[in-house]
Amino acid sequence: GRTFAVTGAASGIGLAVAERLHREGAEVVAIDRNTAAGPWTASITADFTDQAGFEHVAAQLPDRLDGLFNVAGVPGTAPVQTQLLVNVTAYRRMADVCVPRIDRGGFITNIASLAGSGWRNRAEGVVGFLDLDTDDQLAWIAEQGIEGAAAYPFTKECVIVLTQLMSVELIARGIRVNSISPGPVTTPILEDFRQTIGDTVIDEARAVVGRLATPVDIAAVAALMARPDIAWMNGIDIPVDGGLGAYRFARAA
Ligand code: NAI
Repeated sequence: GRTFAVTGAASGIGLAVAERLHREGAEVVAIDRNTAAGPWTASITADFTDQAGFEHVAAQLPDRLDGLFNVAGVPGTAPVQTQLLVNVTAYRRMADVCVPRIDRGGFITNIASLAGSGWRNRAEGVVGFLDLDTDDQLAWIAEQGIEGAAAYPFTKECVIVLTQLMSVELIARGIRVNSISPGPVTTPILEDFRQTIGDTVIDEARAVVGRLATPVDIAAVAALMARPDIAWMNGIDIPVDGGLGAYRFARAA
């Protein structure tokens, strides 16, 4: 059978991805800070704000994986350092841990966000930023005046840029790397988003596209990435927002 690692699998989108992969007959290795309960082949509890968390994951992962879904994330209500470590650094660390176990034809899929869609505006800066260590990254963020909740869209811009850089690094190994960018999804962190981006933005999003996304809407697209015949989709960001991004573009144009 095929085996996939899914981070953030205890809740929301990660849980829906794990459930969908399992339903399709795959083995799932669920990874989360909280205990991920379910019919999983393995459930690894690890905190991505702690370097020891990755060592713990590395020691428990199976020798062979077909793919990694980086889903775990925290909203803009979390401290900036936590947002950076969980939303960006952990995606790179988990990839480093998993890549040696992934054969040709395997993949990494990262969850970014519609909130990161402005990545082109500071892409060059982000490329340099991704090479820095955590202390220098925090200094860079402070220098740019990116504070509090504003760090969240920045971390998601980082995911979209990191995805493209990693896809280039891994072309020779035959491992594809893509990101998925959901619009608002009904999960526990939506309440945090209400605090940071406001009710109006979320209510407008619902009015424009008719409803908010469910985790299942996002998992359906994530599961596409695990199809063996998705062989030529690489280094791209896939918005999954019911048309909200297109609406915002058309309104601004
Ligand atoms: P959620 O809160 O339901 O799930 C996030 C999971 O990440 C939780 O199970 C949590 O325990 C885990 N996690 C958080 N900090 C961790 C840490 N330090 N170490 C290990 N695991 C940790 O939220 P949701 O909505 O399912 O979020 C999943 C991803 O989707 C996140 O990356 C989020 O930024 C992204 N996203 C969510 C949207 C939404 O509207 N809900 C919209 C766009 C993107």
